[in-house]
Amino acid sequence: MKSKKILGIDIGGSGIKGAPVNTDDGRILKSRHRFPTPDPATPENVAEVISDLVKHFKWKGLVGCGYPGVIQNGIVRTAANVDKSWIDTNINKLFSRVTGLPVYAINDADAAGLAEMKFGAGKNQKGVILLLTIGTGIGTVLFSSGRLVPNLEMGHIEYKGMDAEKYCADIVRKNENLSWDEWAGRFNEYLMAMEALVWPDLIILGGGASKKGDKFMQYLTVKARVVAAQLLNEAGLVGAALAARQYYKTGKKKIK
Ligand code: BGC
Repeated sequence: MKSKKILGIDIGGSGIKGAPVNTDDGRILKSRHRFPTPDPATPENVAEVISDLVKHFKWKGLVGCGYPGVIQNGIVRTAANVDKSWIDTNINKLFSRVTGLPVYAINDADAAGLAEMKFGAGKNQKGVILLLTIGTGIGTVLFSSGRLVPNLEMGHIEYKGMDAEKYCADIVRKNENLSWDEWAGRFNEYLMAMEALVWPDLIILGGGASKKGDKFMQYLTVKARVVAAQLLNEAGLVGAALAARQYYKTGKKKIK
């Protein structure tokens, strides 16, 4: 596989970030570039930003992209925090058409999980590992002996009569002006509910809130060991690049 340098992109609720990644060691090869997420975040509007990122880096090779929802065989199935018109879009085909390059898209949290397992807090860790990304939504990723279960959507389990992420995502803390200990109380309840369902050996906390671990980690009472993610803002785009490399390596060279 010659394309170890892959453009990694991460579509988030507020920004779309990209950088070329060396997928052998996870290094970012040029400083990350960010465009604001368009409003509305429709497929066409987001595709235009993807194309702008490709132009910004004068990119010619493979592109990997993290999308904040379920993707099954290239088809978007959910759109919790982006425009609903994403549902049923063939994301690989759309992005490949607008950029003229082979693009492979994966759930954003799955991407972050792949990167943390290979280069970050999950490296050399055994057993059942649950990674959560805490941002506009809550992304959940489960690894057992290093194998990923894709599209696990535990941010949407019902908690207190609502979608769990509407109760304790990082954006809820900001929008409702919750103090760190108020928010940590909510998040801890959610984490305990998750623990009771999947019993991980290790929990890795990623996403925006992972940089502020000192403000809330002390309030968490789950039995599993809890650590902060190490790649911080970069995990999503590094993991998207890794996923694209893997996809094209396994011979699925044509985007259908
Ligand atoms: C989506 C997930 C996504 C997470 C983080 C949730 O609302 O349903 O697919 O991984 O947000 O962006």
